[in-house]
Amino acid sequence: MRQDQLLTADEQMISTAMKIRFFPITVAAAKGTRVTDEQGHVFLDLSAGWAVANIGYGHPRIARKLQVQYEQLSFTSQLTVPEKNMLALAKKLLEITPGAFDKKVWFGHSGSDANDCIAKLIPLARKKSRMISFMGSYHGQTMGALSLSGHPAQAKFIGSGNVTKIPYPNPYRPPFGETQALTSQLLSYVENEVFTTVCPPDDTAAIILEGIQSDGGVIVPPDDFLPALEKLCRRYDIALIFDEVKVGMGRTGRWFSFDHFGVVPDAVVLGKSLGGGLPASAVVARQELLDVGIGTHLYTASGNPLSACAALENIAIIEQERLIENARENGKYFREMLDQLKEKHEWIGDVRGRGLAVGDELVEDREHKTPAAEKTAAICYRCYELGLLLFYVGTRSNVLEITPPLTISKEEIDLAVSILDQAFTDLRENRIDMEKVRQYAGW
Ligand SMILES: Cc1ncc(COP(=O)(O)O)c(C=O)c1O
Repeated sequence: MRQDQLLTADEQMISTAMKIRFFPITVAAAKGTRVTDEQGHVFLDLSAGWAVANIGYGHPRIARKLQVQYEQLSFTSQLTVPEKNMLALAKKLLEITPGAFDKKVWFGHSGSDANDCIAKLIPLARKKSRMISFMGSYHGQTMGALSLSGHPAQAKFIGSGNVTKIPYPNPYRPPFGETQALTSQLLSYVENEVFTTVCPPDDTAAIILEGIQSDGGVIVPPDDFLPALEKLCRRYDIALIFDEVKVGMGRTGRWFSFDHFGVVPDAVVLGKSLGGGLPASAVVARQELLDVGIGTHLYTASGNPLSACAALENIAIIEQERLIENARENGKYFREMLDQLKEKHEWIGDVRGRGLAVGDELVEDREHKTPAAEKTAAICYRCYELGLLLFYVGTRSNVLEITPPLTISKEEIDLAVSILDQAFTDLRENRIDMEKVRQYAGW
């Protein structure tokens, strides 16, 4: 089938509920950092398929492992029959997550079902009914995960009423107005307003957050925030939970975003890149948070042998190919190159990130910081036309999200930045077909 026929079939048969489209592409193949469409065009991919292909696409080691595993044991439901791949993966996850206390692992298939695990089990385990999460956070689309989320993508749904949402400390758009003391301001708001009114701390089971808020706009909190939040949680006996579904597994230049600060969470949520391209998610947490009754959060294919063996090999590849170091070093280089681009293009308001989780926020003008949503969509569309794939995120739809495979090289970063440069120039010189852009303006 030709690409246009596939796109028509997609429009006719596939539910819009599962779509966010930025340009008219279908994918025939992908290898490493490159994606090939049905017409044979090759693209450099800065999305990694929403931060899934951390080790690059089509890694031969995973392909070999999967073939052998499928022939030996294609499936067993680990709900009833535990099997060695799942157990080896659990052991590895317990090793790479911090915490010198008894921990256990729960397995699922998506970031959403893993965050549902948090929404269901943590209040039960702690015998406290309330949770706190952050405005702008994206924890998933199942009912529990959407209840924890504070992103406009979930705002059409009224989730569970036990979650209080507080502002995220966004240094570029401080929620309480311009300030040098964002962390202390936010945490005194929690202590003096939230705890004393709608969410008493003695009935608050946990605070859940993304160490870098990704779909909320790649927002990096101030350096003192995570340690101060951890102290607040300890003071009030509130569990601290990190959703590392998008930025975990090495993307920020450490295994997990909170590792940059020596923070030790009570629970860590993993997904997306964990399975090396196969669906896999996990929660690693204090034993008492996960041993809550029998069969209280289970799925038939959780921890299945194929996903588990792919995830294990994925972790070995990250370690042996030194991808965490590459993320740290080349992420820094990428941000430096984008900072240079910012000198040239007025619409780039802010470049930020950690490792290879990078955001580029576009504004109409730097003084008023008016979000430039349509321009952001146009840059994504034009980059696609020029051979570069990237998506945008943000509660105001104005942040270019750069989450390439962690294997990306400096030469590829130079290529990406030169295409972005061209796209900004084309936008300024009205060379982008805005009618087409509007057809695909994602979310
Ligand atoms: C931080 C975070 N948590 C959870 C999810 C949900 O994951 P999934 O789409 O695999 O259910 C996402 C998805 O974007 C995410 O970014």
